[in-house]
Amino acid sequence: MAKQKQKFQVWGNRLNTPPDELNIGFCAGRDVVSLPMADEVLLEYDVWTNMAHARMLKHVGVLTDQELLEIRTGLSALLAEHRAGTFQLDPVKEDVHINVEHYITFVRQIAAGKKIHTGRSRNDQVSTDMRLFLRAEVIDLAESLIHLIRTILKRAEAETGSIMPGFTHYQPAMMTTAGHWLTGWSQGLLRDVTSLVQNLKTMNRSPLGAAASFGTSWPINREYAAELLGFDAVEENSLDCISSRGENETRVASSIAILMNHLSIVSQDIILLSTPYYGFIEVDDKYVTGSSIMPQKRNPDFAEIIRSKASMTQGSLISLLGIQKGAMSGYNRDTQQTKYLIMDLLRESRDVPSILGGVITSLRFNRSTMRQQCESGFINSTDIADWLAQKHGLSFRDCYEVVSLAVKYSEAQGKVTVAALEKAVAEQGLKVSFSGNDRDFIDSPEKSLLNKQHTGAPSASSVKRMIHSQNESLDQMERDINGVREKIRIAQERAFGD
Ligand code: ARG
Repeated sequence: MAKQKQKFQVWGNRLNTPPDELNIGFCAGRDVVSLPMADEVLLEYDVWTNMAHARMLKHVGVLTDQELLEIRTGLSALLAEHRAGTFQLDPVKEDVHINVEHYITFVRQIAAGKKIHTGRSRNDQVSTDMRLFLRAEVIDLAESLIHLIRTILKRAEAETGSIMPGFTHYQPAMMTTAGHWLTGWSQGLLRDVTSLVQNLKTMNRSPLGAAASFGTSWPINREYAAELLGFDAVEENSLDCISSRGENETRVASSIAILMNHLSIVSQDIILLSTPYYGFIEVDDKYVTGSSIMPQKRNPDFAEIIRSKASMTQGSLISLLGIQKGAMSGYNRDTQQTKYLIMDLLRESRDVPSILGGVITSLRFNRSTMRQQCESGFINSTDIADWLAQKHGLSFRDCYEVVSLAVKYSEAQGKVTVAALEKAVAEQGLKVSFSGNDRDFIDSPEKSLLNKQHTGAPSASSVKRMIHSQNESLDQMERDINGVREKIRIAQERAFGD
C-alpha cells in the first residue's frame, strides 16, 4: 500500500498557509474533548481556603503552632499530588471539601486534621472557593479582552482613511471608514471590560466564617482570613454570605452575555463582509475552515461558533438567575449547580478573544473594493442633502426632497448626477446654480467624510481621537487589574509561605 505523503488535513489542499491549531480546537470544541470535574477545578482554591482558615484558627488560639504546621504540610502535599496528577477526587466523599479533609486526616494521618473544620461549614467554604475561582477567571478574561481591544485599535489606526459603505437594515446607508467601524467594535468591548472590572470589585469580599449561614461560637477572625485570601473586606452578614451564592456568578455571566453579544456582532460583520458578494475583507487562510466535500470552500467557522456561544451564554445566564430566584434564605443545594453553569460559561468564552484577536490581526481590508462600493449605490445621498443645505442656504427638508427626486432620476446611472439634481431643483421651485465645487463634492467620498469632524464621527481625525481615548481607558483598566493581581500575589505568599 502506498504511504500517505502529506500531513493529514480533513479539508484538503485548498489553503496556502496551514490552519491555526488553536482555531481547529476552537471549532472542534467538545466534539473531541471532555470536561474536568467541577470540584477538580476548585481544588487549588479549596486548598488556599483551607490554608487561610487554618492560619486563622492558629491566630485566634484554636490550633497550636505544631498543629498548624502539620495541616500546612498535609495541604502542600495534596497540592503537589494534584499538580502531579496523582490525586483523584473520590466520588464517595461527595465533594472537594470532604476529600481534602479526608486526605489530611486519614491519608496523611494528621491528627489535627480533625480540627480543620472548626468554626466553618462546606457552605462558606464553597462560596469562598467560588469567589477565588471567579476572581481569577474574570482577571484572565478581562486581560485577554484588553489585548483584543488593543489589537482592534492598532488595525483601526491603519484604516482611518479606508472608506467603506455603512449599512442600516443591511441596506447601503452612508459611507464610513474601516477605522470608524473598528473603533465601534472596540468601544462596546471597552464597556465590557469596565463591567468585568466592576464585577471584580463587587465580588472581592470574603464569605468565609459565615459557616452554615448563621456564624459560629468559635472566636474566629474573619478579617484576618480575608486578608490571606486577597479579599478587600469581609462580606458581613453571615446569612447573606450563603444566601447570595450564585449572585456574583450571575453578575459575571451577565457581563459576559453582553460581551458575547458584542463579539457575535463582530463575527456576523466578518461573516457577511467577507463573502465574495461583499468582498470588503478577507479572513486569513489560518482561520478559515474547508469542507470535506466541496474543495473550494473557505468558511468562517470560528465566527459561527462565536455566535452560538453567545446564545449558550444567554442560556446559562437565565439558568443562573432562575436558580437563585425562589429559595428560602440560607443554604440550599440548588446553588451547587451554579458551579456547573458558570464554569461551562467561562470555559466556552475563554478562548474567544484570542481567536478573534488572531483573526483581526491577519484580516485583509480590500480598500479598493470598499471604496468602489461608495462610488455608486447612492450612499452619499444624505451628504449631498447636507451639502446643499449648508452651501446654498436651504433647509435640510427641502434638500432631502430634492435629493430623493434626484436619486429617482439618476437610477440608471447608479449615482446622483448633477443633471438629475438640476431637474429636481427646478421641479421643487428652488433656485440653485451648481458650481464646480458642488460637482467635486458629489463625486468625492473623501470630501463627504472630511466634513464629519464632530466627536465620534467617521473622519480620520475623529477616529484618531477615539483611538487615543480608548487606549487611555484601557491603561486605567490595566492599572485596576494589576492592583488586584498584586493584592492576590501578596495574599498567596502569606497564605502559602513559611
Ligand atoms: N458541594 C456542595 C456545593 O457545591 C458543598 C456544600 C454542601 N453543603 C450542604 N449543606 N450540603 O454546594
